[in-house]
Amino acid sequence: MPAPSAPWWRDAVFYQVYVRSFADSDGDGLGDLPGITSHLRYLRDLGVDAVWITPFYPSPQHDAGYDVSDYTGVDPLFGSLGDVDDLLTRAHRLGLKVVVDLVPNHTSVEHAWFRAALDAPAGSPERARYLFRPGKGRGGARPPNNWSSVFGGPAWSRIHDGQWYLHLFDATQPDLDWSNPEVAAMFDDVLRFWLDRGVDGFRIDVAHGLAKDRSLRNQRGRRSGETDLPSDRQGSMVERRDVDEPMWDQPGVHDIYRSWRRLLDTYDGDRMAVAEAWTRTPESMARYVRPDELHQAFNFAWLLAPWSAAAFADVIRGTLDAVRPVGAAPTWVLSNHDVVRHPTRYGGGHRGLARARAATLTMLALPGSAYLYQGEELGLEEVDVPPEFRQDPVWFRTGGVGRDGARVPMPWRGTHSPYGFSRAGTTPWLPMPDDWARLTVAAQRRDPASTWSFYRDALRARRRFADAGEDVEIVDGRATVLEVRRGPLTVVCNCGPRPARLPPGTVVLTSGPLDGHLLPPDTAAWVACA
Ligand code: GLC
Repeated sequence: MPAPSAPWWRDAVFYQVYVRSFADSDGDGLGDLPGITSHLRYLRDLGVDAVWITPFYPSPQHDAGYDVSDYTGVDPLFGSLGDVDDLLTRAHRLGLKVVVDLVPNHTSVEHAWFRAALDAPAGSPERARYLFRPGKGRGGARPPNNWSSVFGGPAWSRIHDGQWYLHLFDATQPDLDWSNPEVAAMFDDVLRFWLDRGVDGFRIDVAHGLAKDRSLRNQRGRRSGETDLPSDRQGSMVERRDVDEPMWDQPGVHDIYRSWRRLLDTYDGDRMAVAEAWTRTPESMARYVRPDELHQAFNFAWLLAPWSAAAFADVIRGTLDAVRPVGAAPTWVLSNHDVVRHPTRYGGGHRGLARARAATLTMLALPGSAYLYQGEELGLEEVDVPPEFRQDPVWFRTGGVGRDGARVPMPWRGTHSPYGFSRAGTTPWLPMPDDWARLTVAAQRRDPASTWSFYRDALRARRRFADAGEDVEIVDGRATVLEVRRGPLTVVCNCGPRPARLPPGTVVLTSGPLDGHLLPPDTAAWVACA
């Protein structure tokens, strides 16, 4: 169990704010920092402990800000450094921690370093901050190796003088060469810059990608340019332990995080960092949270699991077994801005929402920390964004797969778009569905049976069990029902087709109505046992 003196992040509930879709204060159709600040009380009332804000740095926005051109500035689209300061002050006053996104794997093509690299000759120190290489074949016309971009297509693009540069994501996101000490030194300064301003931590983008196999050798078992979409990569994460990936999860990344840990530890206030590392196994995930490395790593295993008690039990067991030996606490997450929202993943409609609420209630009963994605407290589903409004580079590189559907702006109030997200009459950056009036925050706050009220109640109840400890027992025996005991709290999640019996005790909270004393299918309950 966490010691009474455990750091705040160990069991915190984080709320992910996708900045461009949260709240627009200036009427340009894009969310911004003052929009977040004016809704911090909303987050406090909902009951979260911390806010993770996606990138707001200067950027040409080819990948919604994950293509950074200046790591210590603020894009005028989102506000100013003064707005960051205001946000931090207000959040801290309300008792909320603030985590910002750090994108160290790649810069934007508009970063001063990449511009200088294009102007400098092959072999120059300017080029050595990135991964420039000559091509293969006659005239160097073929890419240096067979690696694919996560966003589809080859991971290499060619420049004016014939050299190629590596980009594991979009062509506008050149990968940095982390074996170059200049790169590490620059990011030390970036970390210090934001820590000095008062941020409580960082979410490390693509944390498993920074170190590549030094030889940049071919990936075995794949053809050049073969598409490796996030969904493919993620879908096969746990099962394919044997896969050859010279670009991901290389031992060298851990030296970087050890050095960041030393830097973070020079600050007061339990500053933290969480790795976005799409690793293949729970054990490799746990390597990022060894005592001298990062504090947390996203545990994507549940998000990838089907609706199944056995699968959930496997995820819980696998996660806890992996983090226990390194003394870390687990993290849990069901949705984020890169994946299909969980009510839709679970089938959509009434059943999808019921399952999503049940999964959320189960997740919130577990030890460790949980990450929520904005809008999930409203039960929002993935939106089918029409092709002409699509913005995600993945959509364009794959011709048909994209993440915009999870990124549609938040509906706050009112009966039609932009539902209080922006000033009336403004066109939001992604169109908002016509039938969201009943899903707005204002509508749901009035309704005690709404998904919003359920989240608020669950977060409140979670605080009552803060001392329940970190040991859990998975009560086996009923293949379609997951039952997990954690100290005085038992959570039961019915993934099967028939109503299930609840263990003796007092029902604290359910994700949907009970059927007499029975737990209906697609429903979870917390039971306090004497
Ligand atoms: C991470 C982000 C994603 C982004 C990618 C490249 O996976 O979550 O949104 O596109 O990194 O930076």
